[in-house]
Amino acid sequence: MGFNIPRGTQDILPGESERWQYVEKIARETCHAYQYKEIRTPIFEHTELFSRGVGESTDIVQKEMYTFADKKGRSLTLRPEGTASAVRSFVENKLFANPVQPTKLYYIGPMFRYERPQTGRYRQFYQFGIEAIGSNDPAIDAEVIALAMSVYRKAGLSNLKLVINSLGDKESRTAHREALIRHFEPRIDEFCSDCQTRLRQNPLRILDCKKDRDHELLKTAPSILDYLNEESKAYFAKVQQYLTDIGIAFEVDSNLVRGLDYYNHTAFEIMSNAEGFGAITTLAGGGRYDGLTEEFGGPKAPGIGFAMSIERLLAALDAENVNVGTDDGIDCYIVTLGDKAKDYSVSLLYKLREAGISAEIDYEQKKMKGQFKSADRLHAKYIAVLGEDELNQNQINVKDAKTGDQQAVGLDEFIRFLKTNTES
Ligand code: HAM
Repeated sequence: MGFNIPRGTQDILPGESERWQYVEKIARETCHAYQYKEIRTPIFEHTELFSRGVGESTDIVQKEMYTFADKKGRSLTLRPEGTASAVRSFVENKLFANPVQPTKLYYIGPMFRYERPQTGRYRQFYQFGIEAIGSNDPAIDAEVIALAMSVYRKAGLSNLKLVINSLGDKESRTAHREALIRHFEPRIDEFCSDCQTRLRQNPLRILDCKKDRDHELLKTAPSILDYLNEESKAYFAKVQQYLTDIGIAFEVDSNLVRGLDYYNHTAFEIMSNAEGFGAITTLAGGGRYDGLTEEFGGPKAPGIGFAMSIERLLAALDAENVNVGTDDGIDCYIVTLGDKAKDYSVSLLYKLREAGISAEIDYEQKKMKGQFKSADRLHAKYIAVLGEDELNQNQINVKDAKTGDQQAVGLDEFIRFLKTNTES
């Protein structure tokens, strides 16, 4: 009986995994420069963490969670995102007690959402995300956005669009919410049943509805920017000023609402502008969540972060024809002739590898010609030939694959020879 991979999931095979490692390395190095430290949280959490954290009215909680009961009947959920877990861990482990604040965290790992799979949308996908918890300095908002842009640029992308918005503080959001209810209520029966529930639960969600996105009332809906109080306006202006100072171009879009409930003040998304990138252009999304630590029983500690899909980053690199993480070949392939040489090569190979030289031999009892072919396939920089004659003379014949030059190297010198000639 054969098995197929579950719908919406992927195998990342050798050849492709190198590209993942390449972008993950850039993400980690950038986090180091910006002083974000890695956090690893469980793949599953108590369901309530997400229903409370992400929000009851969101599509994620209502339709997309992989929720199951464990053997004791507890309701657990595969994490659909990383922010709720990071904030839970911040509160539970009292990271707020650390004298250095804000607490700056990053994570890379799989997330799970029961969505309709299509190009760029999966049921298991990988997010690289960061969270800065414990500061409401607008400079940290600019830093978080700058870090995301930096990762994309270092990875090799150039066709990027940054869109920002402010959802304001509680007072601004309440005023906007009331205006939205007044706007939609008289004609709410023209909307889908989800939106009818959303009207009272969270009317902002109507602006994000996939079914009703062409309804004329959406175009004339009151803009949050008209309802920001002075404090929220000043905060948003400062974030924009810092972005401008840093030299990061952006557009303000008052329709950007984001799909999770915990946001206030700054919200942003980064899209790919690359031609032929496909229907889903959002590469990353994030924003500020100032009440979440208190919601989880912790002290006041305003936070901001973002998450990006690694799959979409790699797809954007493809769309821009940027080749990354390609296999640049091994340092040395040892071709052996006869049993004695083969036996000797096993421990020689071990020594090379321990010295940090990437090396390979044949395990299929191939003839010499076949071994040379393997060396070629592995893009070996040096091909070393070892036969009984060479062994007797304590030598190995080394060929430079690029130039074709050949020379006999003493077996005692072999490791040093490879080290000096392959070090980049
Ligand atoms: P989100 O907008 O739900 O935000 O997801 C962030 C990013 O994850 C998206 O922009 C996209 O790149 C990727 N993503 C989401 N769903 C899928 C999917 N089904 N397939 C592939 N990629 C996907 C959050 O998750 C927030 N936790 C971000 C955040 C962190 N806000 C503050 N801190």
